[in-house]
Amino acid sequence: MYTTSQLLDKINRRLSEFSLEREPNTLYQPIRYELSLGGKRIRPVLMLMAYNLYREDVSQAYAPAIGIEIYHNHTLLHDDVMDRADLRRGKPTVHKVWGDNTAILSGDAMLILAFRQMTLVLPEYQREVMNIFSQTALEICEGQQLDMDFESRSGVSEGEYIEMIRLKTGVLLAASLHIGALLAGASAEDAKNLYQFGMQIGIAFQLQDDLLDVYGDPVVFGKEIGGDILCNKKTYMLIQAWNRADEAQRKELKQWMDAADYLPLEKIAAMTRLYDQLGIREACERKMRTHYELAMEKLAAVSVDEERKRELKSLTERLMYRQA
Ligand code: IPE
Ligand code: IPE
Ligand code: MG
Ligand code: MG
Ligand code: MG
Repeated sequence: MYTTSQLLDKINRRLSEFSLEREPNTLYQPIRYELSLGGKRIRPVLMLMAYNLYREDVSQAYAPAIGIEIYHNHTLLHDDVMDRADLRRGKPTVHKVWGDNTAILSGDAMLILAFRQMTLVLPEYQREVMNIFSQTALEICEGQQLDMDFESRSGVSEGEYIEMIRLKTGVLLAASLHIGALLAGASAEDAKNLYQFGMQIGIAFQLQDDLLDVYGDPVVFGKEIGGDILCNKKTYMLIQAWNRADEAQRKELKQWMDAADYLPLEKIAAMTRLYDQLGIREACERKMRTHYELAMEKLAAVSVDEERKRELKSLTERLMYRQA
């Protein structure tokens, strides 16, 4: 069995060898840029780990693992346009460097490259892999649309938020594990449990991302702090703040959310102060823990030796305390 860092090395090596020797450079340069900025590579790592639960030689899963990472990076290019984000992995975003049109088109090309990679599995698995992948990609669009719709809606419930992040983030971690298990010949039952495990860690992962968007260190996180607050993103933290606020605090929250003219840093500071007063950070951490525990229940139901699950467990544990 491989360790997380061995799998990460394999993925990074294959990604750096991924051939983009095509023209025009103006289309491919932003793709090379995005893929060279690093990132945690957790989706391909999870795919190879799921595969490695059942088989020692993971080389059969390299192509879809690279595919899932290119796909993820495609979503980031478009997400940064939608969220007007200037910074990603500590560097200016593609739309900041080359403009929105390039981010859209290079992002499209990445989506196609990702689909092409995903077909590079043994013929007997092709249809099912493509079904899982295309279903997942569609669900992510649905989640991303809900995320945007919620920006201008009030009264978004906790349940609606969890469903939105399940779609925009959970399903991709879930599908990565599912495809890895499928290619390794796991039972349908195991593949389903691994999918559910991924879904729950994905939900915890997005809760943590939303928390770091407020409380993270921008240098470590690599993204600008307070972006979600400025967009009025209906995060778990904002929903909880609204639910817990007294009359005066609600009035203040509403004022900031409705404000058309404000200094960004002032809005971020004021909203963060309200979150601090209301114990929102702890509430978010508790919610993450709940989903982490649900994930562990699903992993426990996977019928391989506990010893073989060790890497997956320690990676999940580390993700819960991540700062980037
Ligand atoms: C960012 O994903 C988008 C979310 C789903 C929160 P990651 O946090 O996995 O980003 P990288 O690939 O490591 O930069
Ligand atoms: C990311 O949500 C979801 C997808 C990219 C599909 P965010 O918008 O919170 O991700 P970051 O914080 O920009 O990475
Ligand atoms: Mg974003
Ligand atoms: Mg977004
Ligand atoms: Mg975020």
